[in-house]
Amino acid sequence: MGKTNLALGLALALAKAKYRVLLWDADLGLANVDIILGIVPKYNLTHVLKGERSIREVLIEGPAGLRVIPGGSGIEEIANVEPLVLTKILREMAALDSKLDYLFIDTGAGITRQVLAVALAATEVMLVTTPEPTALTDAYGMIKVLKNHRGAHRIKLIVNMAKNEREGEAAAEKLVRVARQFLGVELKVVGYVPYDRAVPDAVKKNQHYYLASPHAPASLSTLKIASSLGKIKKDGNSGLKDFVEQVVSFLQKKPREG
Ligand SMILES: Nc1ncnc2c1ncn2[C@@H]1O[C@H](COP(=O)(O)OP(=O)(O)OP(=O)(O)O)[C@@H](O)[C@H]1O
Ligand SMILES: [Mg+2]
Repeated sequence: MGKTNLALGLALALAKAKYRVLLWDADLGLANVDIILGIVPKYNLTHVLKGERSIREVLIEGPAGLRVIPGGSGIEEIANVEPLVLTKILREMAALDSKLDYLFIDTGAGITRQVLAVALAATEVMLVTTPEPTALTDAYGMIKVLKNHRGAHRIKLIVNMAKNEREGEAAAEKLVRVARQFLGVELKVVGYVPYDRAVPDAVKKNQHYYLASPHAPASLSTLKIASSLGKIKKDGNSGLKDFVEQVVSFLQKKPREG
């Protein structure tokens, strides 16, 4: 829980530090990046899927210069988008001429072929869990799927909504231990974001906690994690093109058990 808020938090922290950041709201089932940012986009990804608008036309600039591709709600999940349509969208994204330092992709919960394709092509996969046993079990399942596709080394674990640092650390240690023991995966833990009322308080005001309460504990933790992330590549554009081609080639392969 907290994927969208954290993705936005990291993206905003980097945008504020003057990096060129694009966030793609790829959770088409229940896209809500724009709601949290308090912006009302005229067009969104549904228009692109229907062939009515180009990616360039739906791209909007949010706070701190963060650019956003709004997802649009209530249609279908990116999970169910035709691979060919997804390919077209991705190629359009890669052709955006402006260079990027970071591309964040916010997906829904659960792993599907399309989400997997994106995760395997990405430089880093931020896996967000909470200390709850059910969340840890879900996270373990995700690690297992990525491992089966040789993508587990990309995972960076964030424990969200821990009561305190100790609870966060204990949860991370548990997951690190089982991943090592049963999957042979060495998990990288990148940080903890505490439970912080500033997060839902901001959401209720159609704001984001990182902007509304920059000194709140959640914001300080977010900044710490953001500064530990690696950039796409020296040449942002070719990095993006590589990424897109990898997603496309995965989608064109025959599905196999995973
Ligand atoms: N660190 C936190 N402290 C307190 N509340 C939080 C924190 N992180 C997230 N929340 C709350 O949890 C709820 C879900 O957050 P968010 O939408 O970011 O999760 P999500 O993982 O993207 O969910 P979904 O799977 O539906 O996309 C929000 O109401 C948010 O305010
Ligand atoms: Mg979400």
